[in-house]
Amino acid sequence: MNKIWNHRWAKGMLFALCLLPLLGLAWRWEHNQLGINRIETVARFTGDWTLRFLVGVLCVTPLRRLPGQSGLIRFRRMIGLFAFFYGCLHALHYYAIDAQFNQEILWEDVTTRRFFIAGLIGLGLMVPLAATSSRAAIKRLGGRRWQQVHRFVYLAAIAGVVHFFWQGKAALWEPIYWGIGVGALLTYRVGYWAIGAWHRRKKLSSASLSPPR
Ligand code: HEM
Repeated sequence: MNKIWNHRWAKGMLFALCLLPLLGLAWRWEHNQLGINRIETVARFTGDWTLRFLVGVLCVTPLRRLPGQSGLIRFRRMIGLFAFFYGCLHALHYYAIDAQFNQEILWEDVTTRRFFIAGLIGLGLMVPLAATSSRAAIKRLGGRRWQQVHRFVYLAAIAGVVHFFWQGKAALWEPIYWGIGVGALLTYRVGYWAIGAWHRRKKLSSASLSPPR
């Protein structure tokens, strides 16, 4: 599969694929196919895609560890930036269309509906990730610190699921399924790290026990 992932058109193809939901939405908007409540449809659509991309970016690491899939890492940044892009659209749509740029409505929603706070936390956590997604930022921060910052993506996904759960309009099982998915990915990540740490410690202790030559 690496041959496909490393193909020179692969990134361009993925970029076009990631734009498809937006193009589909624009088409439905233009042809009045968003149902009676356009505002709700757009909010839900963009919210769903933000969460899909967020979970998509979390899937890259476990998938790239499968044999012959290491090339998938090339797409992680793009998927993450699309999660941020759809998240911004989702929040902007709410602020511009739903709240009509009215600070008072925004303030009332944030102070009376807890799902807004979870959403804002999720989007807020994605800001440093997007801002440090360039190669220059990795160099500036150093690989270790950059990785630490980029673990926020798990917190952003958790906040997104809580936001979905608290929003309370969708069928209850939907956010629960997403929660199970994010939980499984987090468990995998922690498990992988713990096994690696255990192996490193074992190696170190057996090296210190072996007699000097
Ligand atoms: C990590 C960031 C976020 C994620 C992953 C996310 C995701 C979602 C999801 C999955 C839904 C439910 C869609 C459905 O019912 O199918 C939703 C609904 C909603 N979100 Fe977000 N969201 C985020 C941030 C925000 C922010 C920052 C705001 C506004 C300030 C916001 C405003 C809304 C609103 C108003 C709805 C309700 C739509 C409706 O049913 O009327 N979200 N979001």
